[in-house]
Amino acid sequence: MEISLQLFLILIAFSLSLHLKIGPVWSLCLEDQHSSLLKLKQTLIFNHALSSKLVSWGNSSTDCCSWAGVTCSGGGHVIDLDLSHESISGGIDSSSSLFNLQHLQGLNLAWNLFSGSIPSSFSTLKNLTDLDLSNNILSGQISSIHWENLSCLVNLRLSNNSLEGIIPLSLFSLPSLKNLYLQRNRFFGQIGDFPVVSSSQLATLDLSSNRLEGSIPSSFFKLQGLQQLILSSNNFSGTLDLSIIQKLGNLFTLDLSFNHLSVEDGFGNIDVTSFPQIQELRLVSCKLRKFPSFLRNQSAMSVLDLSDNQIEGEIPEWICDVPSRYLNLSHNLLTKIDGSCGRRLLNFLDLHSNLLRGDITNVTRAKFIDYSENQLNSVIPTDIDSFLARNTVIFLASGNYLRGVISESICNMSYLQVLDLSRNFLNGTVPWCLVNMTQSGFLSVLNLRRNNLIGTIPDTFSGNCGLQTLNLNENSLQGKIPKSLANCKMLEVLDIGNNRISDSFPCWLSTISTLRILVLRSNKFYGSIECPMSNATMSLLQIVDLASNKFSGKLPKNFFESWTGIMVAKDEAPAKIIGQTYYKDTVTVTMKGLEIDLVKILTIFTSIDFSCNNFEGEILEVMGEFQALIVLNLSHNSLAGLIPSSIGNLHCLESLDLSSNNLTGNIPQQLGGLNFLAALNLSHNQLEGKIPKGNQLQTFSEDSFEDNKGLCGFPLRDCEANMQPPPQGNNSNDGTKIEWNLISAEVGFVFGLAIVILPLMFMKRWRIWYYKRVDRVLFRIFPQLDQRSRNHGRRALRTP
Ligand SMILES: *[C@@H]1O[C@H](CO)[C@@H](O)[C@H](O)[C@H]1NC(C)=O
Ligand SMILES: *[C@@H]1O[C@H](CO)[C@@H](O)[C@H](O)[C@H]1NC(C)=O
Ligand SMILES: *[C@@H]1O[C@H](CO)[C@@H](O)[C@H](O)[C@H]1NC(C)=O
Ligand SMILES: *[C@@H]1O[C@H](CO)[C@@H](O)[C@H](O)[C@H]1NC(C)=O
Ligand SMILES: *[C@@H]1O[C@H](CO)[C@@H](O)[C@H](O)[C@H]1NC(C)=O
Ligand SMILES: *[C@@H]1O[C@H](CO)[C@@H](O)[C@H](O)[C@H]1NC(C)=O
Ligand SMILES: *[C@@H]1O[C@H](CO)[C@@H](O)[C@H](O)[C@H]1NC(C)=O
Ligand SMILES: *[C@@H]1O[C@H](CO)[C@@H](O)[C@H](O)[C@H]1NC(C)=O
Ligand SMILES: *[C@@H]1O[C@H](CO)[C@@H](O)[C@H](O)[C@H]1NC(C)=O
Ligand SMILES: *[C@@H]1O[C@H](CO)[C@@H](O)[C@H](O)[C@H]1NC(C)=O
Ligand SMILES: *[C@@H]1O[C@H](CO)[C@@H](O)[C@H](O)[C@H]1NC(C)=O
Ligand SMILES: *[C@@H]1O[C@H](CO)[C@@H](O)[C@H](O)[C@H]1NC(C)=O
Repeated sequence: MEISLQLFLILIAFSLSLHLKIGPVWSLCLEDQHSSLLKLKQTLIFNHALSSKLVSWGNSSTDCCSWAGVTCSGGGHVIDLDLSHESISGGIDSSSSLFNLQHLQGLNLAWNLFSGSIPSSFSTLKNLTDLDLSNNILSGQISSIHWENLSCLVNLRLSNNSLEGIIPLSLFSLPSLKNLYLQRNRFFGQIGDFPVVSSSQLATLDLSSNRLEGSIPSSFFKLQGLQQLILSSNNFSGTLDLSIIQKLGNLFTLDLSFNHLSVEDGFGNIDVTSFPQIQELRLVSCKLRKFPSFLRNQSAMSVLDLSDNQIEGEIPEWICDVPSRYLNLSHNLLTKIDGSCGRRLLNFLDLHSNLLRGDITNVTRAKFIDYSENQLNSVIPTDIDSFLARNTVIFLASGNYLRGVISESICNMSYLQVLDLSRNFLNGTVPWCLVNMTQSGFLSVLNLRRNNLIGTIPDTFSGNCGLQTLNLNENSLQGKIPKSLANCKMLEVLDIGNNRISDSFPCWLSTISTLRILVLRSNKFYGSIECPMSNATMSLLQIVDLASNKFSGKLPKNFFESWTGIMVAKDEAPAKIIGQTYYKDTVTVTMKGLEIDLVKILTIFTSIDFSCNNFEGEILEVMGEFQALIVLNLSHNSLAGLIPSSIGNLHCLESLDLSSNNLTGNIPQQLGGLNFLAALNLSHNQLEGKIPKGNQLQTFSEDSFEDNKGLCGFPLRDCEANMQPPPQGNNSNDGTKIEWNLISAEVGFVFGLAIVILPLMFMKRWRIWYYKRVDRVLFRIFPQLDQRSRNHGRRALRTP
């Protein structure tokens, strides 16, 4: 009897668990849910090749609850639908069968191409807890939706769309809402105060990158549960006293950067000991004048970004005790580092663009250190490695007053990937050990540009050299380019311009197939640039500057034929390794006598400058294949023969200088088709005949054509042979021949470049004036474009 009772109980337990286990399998989806889903599939526009869920619906199983992305309740109702990353496009209709799925609790339509507005029918899905429509191209307002009806909503993600209009206050008062993500849209207007109930659940509020304005509503600071408040990149204005956040005991992320706010310390009103422990604080561009005092008592801080403020004076010792792993104090007015600051090891320490003076030995240790654009004026101590961390990966100190020799102890920092000491007053030689550091394969950027270095470039580049950028421009280096550089198979930038290198053309560089920028300008190079045939090519070359040397001989055909990089416009360069994601190469480009430092190399920028050498022979027809070329300068050589008409194929060309050669014949008609040509110089040649009429060439002044054998026509004198003036109508006919389709096809970046660079190149006399005007615009286009200026008056160029 006992046994059978036990058995009975076991059987019951078994059948119960069996029932629970297979329950959902038996709950085949209900007919109306099935048909709603199928109808949804029919009405949605999606790419069948890129879809993994939708495309399979209805194929194998009739149980819609087993379809990919679908989750049902025990009763066979669809309660969760995940159609993210399905490449669905088009709008969502308010009559969509989606809204028949009334039991939905979770709906994820993120990462698609949904467009149009969000239909108000969403508010009928009363049981929704999670709604994710982020990363689509939805537009229109969201204020007509009855958000208040979605009283179960916990997570609402609408970020990265094109939604606009005001943000309805009802959102902030939803009783269950915890996480609200509205960033990266076009919401505008002010956010008024709203009633905050003590049961509010709101923990995350991300409204960043919108167009919100007015003051930050004080209601935000009454949301007791708030953990993350991210309001950056809007147009919020007014003054915000930091004492207002001290009641938000759970707050761990605060980002008010990039608004028009004046953030004040609230000193005196703050009890630093009871202040919330913030983990991430970003107050970039908040007009701060001092370090917020509450920072003294923070012990959980890992990201502290106070860059671009007006904080003056000494960096206090205690700021170094804030345990932040990322400390960004760049773009302030800091003058001094407390001597005892060097104890902590940070990951990122950015102090660039301050007024730090004195000794480089007072620096804090970090894996990434940026001391650029300050006034550090010490020598580099012989035990630099004991002041910096040995495991420093990136060390940037360009644009200071560092002097003396580069101590070999810097080579003890054996994890160094990027070393930039450019624009200082360093003297002595390039330490051989620094070059031998390439042995580890770590060092990828070595920039010593614009110093006073002498001697030769050490010939110790090692077998597994990982160097990508070697910039020694503007020093006084002598000797030859070391052959061991050929070991650096990843080299992209070689800039040794403006030195005293005396060598023949380094044909052996053609074994480095990654080379994009080669600058040998203003040295003592000599001889032909013709290289013996090899199957290695410099196919990625974009900028080749050989100007002002003693190169001679003909322009070699097969050499040019290998430059496929200039022949086709390329996409973005491949992603670089860690060091270079922050660090940008700098190269000086010369355009019509102007020297411009392109800090971020635009992959689209291409130029060939062979000027001021002794090249002879003819300009090659093959140069007409350099379709992506923007600057071509062959001036001041001894080139003879005709200008090839193929030059007219260089549709991106903005600057063409063939002056001071021995060119003969007519100017090819095709040159008139170069719509972006902003600078042209054909003067001092033997050209003759009529200047092609009715096109771009007419916009240049006499200077562009002067001192030729027999050129005539506008802007020079009328042609004798063509005494009678052409009829008026003829002229305007010619005028309408401008190929507008060509122009619109090329409008894009090149146009952007053109509108900025053109005035620079046009105006000879007003060049200086233009510099001052335009460099602000240049700053916006090329983030760190920087006028070449030997003095350290760089500050004048910075945006205020
Ligand atoms: C589903 O069936 C349709 C036709 O009925 C077919 O085109 C499609 O390739 C099938 N998809 C899968 C994932 O089997
Ligand atoms: C919504 O949820 C409530 C409570 O969980 C439930 O009683 C109701 O049946 C659900 N409604 C629908 C349509 O699923
Ligand atoms: C939303 O709720 C209001 C009452 O608060 C009701 O009048 C309205 O019909 C509801 N709207 C929808 C779309 O359910
Ligand atoms: C924004 O959404 C679009 C469209 O889905 C996507 O391509 C893009 O990568 C998203 N941007 C960000 C920053 O997530
Ligand atoms: C930002 O707001 C200020 C007023 O506070 C206004 O003058 C300015 O035009 C606004 N800027 C933008 C981009 O909306
Ligand atoms: C917090 O502040 C008080 C008073 O300024 C100070 O005595 C204490 O050491 C601080 N604590 C920390 C963790 O900084
Ligand atoms: C520090 O802040 C400046 C200005 O906001 C920014 O440009 C820079 O990239 C930041 N530095 C790092 C290392 O993120
Ligand atoms: C470096 O630290 C020493 C000792 O604290 C101090 O006297 C000196 O002024 C500091 N130098 C700079 C540039 O901060
Ligand atoms: C380097 O400059 C320092 C002064 O800054 C000077 O004393 C030293 O003689 C110079 N060395 C060389 C090799 O020019
Ligand atoms: C470079 O350094 C390695 C050790 O790191 C050494 O073995 C090698 O001899 C050095 N090369 C030269 C050319 O000095
Ligand atoms: C051409 O390439 C092949 C294989 O990559 C190589 O074996 C050969 O030596 C190369 N020839 C020249 C002249 O570089
Ligand atoms: C130009 O060519 C002529 C012959 O065509 C020659 O006499 C003269 O020397 C050349 N001038 C230059 C600068 O090469």
